[in-house]
Amino acid sequence: MIGIDIVKIDRISSTKAKFGDKFLSKFLCEEEINLAKSDASLAGFWAAKEAISKALGCGISAEFGFLDAEIYKSQKGAPMIKFSKEIVDKFRIKSSSLSITHDGGFAIAAVIIETYS
Ligand SMILES: CC(C)(COP(=O)(O)OP(=O)(O)OC[C@H]1O[C@@H](n2cnc3c(N)ncnc32)[C@H](O)[C@@H]1OP(=O)(O)O)[C@@H](O)C(=O)NCCC(=O)NCCS
Repeated sequence: MIGIDIVKIDRISSTKAKFGDKFLSKFLCEEEINLAKSDASLAGFWAAKEAISKALGCGISAEFGFLDAEIYKSQKGAPMIKFSKEIVDKFRIKSSSLSITHDGGFAIAAVIIETYS
């Protein structure tokens, strides 16, 4: 299953300026907040979570919330997804891949999730 999302970096910057940490902690855990060093990265993380929700086929909903998956980085800097055990079991997740890009004021994320049929 595949999911993709695009986010205006400005939108993340202005919401962050308005609501600060309250906004960040709505969609990111502490480790993710420490990992995202710029608004472009934050926008990429937002896009990643929405892309995950699309790959799962449910959107951000009662079935999958922003905090049900954590983005972390490999030793070489590649973004990876860690799902909660509950989500792994519920969606029968076998593996996942995430790619993020930002340029021209936008961040885009693409996600592939493989499940046990
Ligand atoms: C599914 C979701 C992620 C779509 O994101 P969006 O930014 O509203 O819209 P996008 O333009 O990125 O995507 C729209 C496309 O997503 C796809 N889509 C819709 N529901 C989907 C689902 N359940 N699974 C997979 N893809 C879905 C559709 O193809 C849709 O395009 P279409 O209506 O023309 O067919 C969105 O419905 C959602 O859950 N948003 C949550 C936002 C939120 O909770 N904000 C809280 C603010 S604090």
